[in-house]
Amino acid sequence: MKVLVIGGGAREHALCRSLSLDSDVNALYCAPGNAGIAEVAELRPVDPLDGEAVARLATELRADLVVVGPEAPLVAGVADAVRAVGIPVFGPSGEAAQLEGSKAFAKDVMAAAGVPTARSYVCTTPEEVDEALDAFGAPYVVKDDGLAAGKGVVVTDDRAAARAHALRCDRVVIEEFLDGPEVSLFAITDGVTVLPLQPAQDFKRALDGDAGPNTGGMGAYSPLPWADPKLVDEVMASVLQPTVDELRHRGTPFSGLLYAGLAITSRGVRVIEFNARFGDPETQVVLARLRTPLASVLLGSANGTLDVLPPLSWREDAAVTVVIASHNYPETPRTGDPITGLAEVAELDAPHAYVLHAGTRSEGDAVVSAGGRVLSVTATGSDLAEARDRAYKAVARIGLDGSQYRTDIAAKASQQR
Ligand code: AMP
Ligand code: GLY
Repeated sequence: MKVLVIGGGAREHALCRSLSLDSDVNALYCAPGNAGIAEVAELRPVDPLDGEAVARLATELRADLVVVGPEAPLVAGVADAVRAVGIPVFGPSGEAAQLEGSKAFAKDVMAAAGVPTARSYVCTTPEEVDEALDAFGAPYVVKDDGLAAGKGVVVTDDRAAARAHALRCDRVVIEEFLDGPEVSLFAITDGVTVLPLQPAQDFKRALDGDAGPNTGGMGAYSPLPWADPKLVDEVMASVLQPTVDELRHRGTPFSGLLYAGLAITSRGVRVIEFNARFGDPETQVVLARLRTPLASVLLGSANGTLDVLPPLSWREDAAVTVVIASHNYPETPRTGDPITGLAEVAELDAPHAYVLHAGTRSEGDAVVSAGGRVLSVTATGSDLAEARDRAYKAVARIGLDGSQYRTDIAAKASQQR
């Protein structure tokens, strides 16, 4: 099978790594990719937001499957453009991707499907904003309605800051604060059948101890030793299947990856948000644990044949990933700095630890930073403590001027069993 992956972050590197290890895949392309992905896939230049260009490339390459990684192309309808030329695609239509593209749409789907989530108001005027802020009180949760690359959500006790953020958005969702640990649970679906993956936890804040601004995610681990073993079944029944059914009944079937961002509150599980694609960096740890070859699962989603696949099989291993971000991430990340130590990790730490590239590019013989999140250093082990230890050993070999990473990824969880 020939597979074309669209995107160029650590999530796409993780997807390409798994696909490159799958004996069903005999040609693997990534567009536009990055310096690390180039080691496992052939890179092609493309504007990932240009559906016609992606469809043309897929046709030229005679791809049997196109996998669209990031949300922006999905919301822009890139999967529709590829489907229109008759090539199977992993990823929802532009309409179904509104589940991530519009928080108001997601809230409407959840209400119709009876999916538990924070109570919320959609506001478009300062009066509505004031009313909603006062209805819920502090801590205030204010979300830009549209796609904002992880920067649209403000959670604060400061009413003036909450109000100022709300007034900067054309349309804003203001909601009840959800207490409790967060879990990311992914499911692969073809619009009818839903296959949940293993849960993971992400670290959204920039600094140790969950301090600092929200980011795209600074690290992740899986499994979650502290979680209720019934969590996946419960979320399947109360969240994932009802959402997929509701979207199908609306005439906008959702196929691809349904990402439920959950809060485990004292009153039960609540959905914080849906995403329409694999999460980054959680994908790095979830795929590290998946034993089933990936291509058949993604193709089953694209072709509507997930019901005939054997159950997914998982390794006993735990996995941890630590994101190395550039100087000044997330505000004004500096790029163009050379990265050292990649060869040392490959030589000394493989196969248990390896570096997935997020924002990098080649410059002659050097690899330089090209984004806010630069690398996602991933490791597996017999438990979280071992995986964590291996990940941080590899992180210590990497040099990148001014870079930052959290030192507490999976720290608490690795002490639980
Ligand atoms: P989102 O982009 O919706 O995932 O929000 C980013 C982060 O903001 C989440 O991962 C949570 O940490 C936090 N957040 C979002 N909504 C809520 C909420 N209702 N209550 C508490 N924290 C929230
Ligand atoms: N890890 C959060 C996200 O992918 O949105």
